Amino acid sequence: MRAVVLVGGFGTRLRPLTFTTPKPMLPVGHRPIIENLVSMLAVAGIDEVVLALGFKPEPFRAAFPDGECAGVRLHYAVEPEPLDTGGAIRFAADHAGIDETFVVVNGDVLTDLDVAKLVDFHRARGAEATIHLTPVDDPSAYGVVELDGQGRVSRFVEKPAPGTAPTNLINAGTYVFEPSVLGRIPTGRKVSIERETFPQLVADGSLYAMSTSDYWIDTGRPDTYRKANFDVLDGIRKSLRCDAVHGGAVVADRVDLRHSMVSAGASVGPNVTLTESIVLPGAVIESGAVVSGSIVMGRIGADAVVTDCVIGADGSVDSGSERRNELVPDPATVTGR
Ligand code: GTP
Repeated sequence: MRAVVLVGGFGTRLRPLTFTTPKPMLPVGHRPIIENLVSMLAVAGIDEVVLALGFKPEPFRAAFPDGECAGVRLHYAVEPEPLDTGGAIRFAADHAGIDETFVVVNGDVLTDLDVAKLVDFHRARGAEATIHLTPVDDPSAYGVVELDGQGRVSRFVEKPAPGTAPTNLINAGTYVFEPSVLGRIPTGRKVSIERETFPQLVADGSLYAMSTSDYWIDTGRPDTYRKANFDVLDGIRKSLRCDAVHGGAVVADRVDLRHSMVSAGASVGPNVTLTESIVLPGAVIESGAVVSGSIVMGRIGADAVVTDCVIGADGSVDSGSERRNELVPDPATVTGR
């Protein structure tokens, strides 16, 4: 069986990190999100993953030059222009010639869902499309789903106003589709699978959903991206383990590491204190800096104090300076990306 993985979004909420690295290529537990995802699909017997690419396809090709990821064959489908989620699924599936039941995954979701169970559920109900659901405390930022007793979706409300959601079950970003779903997606324009196609399927009574309490996180915001990493470090995510410091990182003596992670290719100088922070490939943190609650891809000068910041690859914090609650560089001032 094949899967389409959506990896072509701009990742605006993770700017400035995503100015240089597409969100699915950011590491969680020291391996790219996309690799985490493809491993999950491999366990379910998926033998080819079609990457629905748009924005910044090059880093994917560079990371997987043999066209293989986690032992699964990759097919690259690059959109000529962003087609939104539905348009991207249609484009990628057509590009790869998909003509039987297939799986679709949002490239920024991490879950321990057993995808094979979702496929079994889909087949047992004769569904045209089935979506994985997960319960959350605040469903207002997501697509909220109401079910009848058989698992059929009776309502799909994308991003309801706070307090108006009919349930706390949200679209968790993994789907099983019959190829007939593709015929519902017009070509050559942007189509949102959530806002256009799912409501159509609901109206026809052919959308089903399966709720599970498996580990699930949407890595799309700085706080959730950090949490996704800490969940691996803390062993909350059972399917993946990692050390705080990758063997390929350069970490000096006398570094005080407090619930933080340092990636391969990062460099941390002596007497640095890191608290609740993620240091990404390419980052340089000079001696004596104090960094907390931050994600760092760029450079932090000696003795700087950086709190609750996201420092992109092009970001630089001067030695001895203090930055709090900032994006560096500030995406609002960056043009041409
Ligand atoms: P934000 O800009 O921060 O909302 O992130 P995003 O661009 O990733 O958007 P969102 O989280 O809504 O997208 C869900 C999934 O669909 C992600 O895996 C995106 O990479 C992907 N995606 C969104 N829009 C497109 C698109 O136009 N083309 C392709 N190929 N993928 C897309």
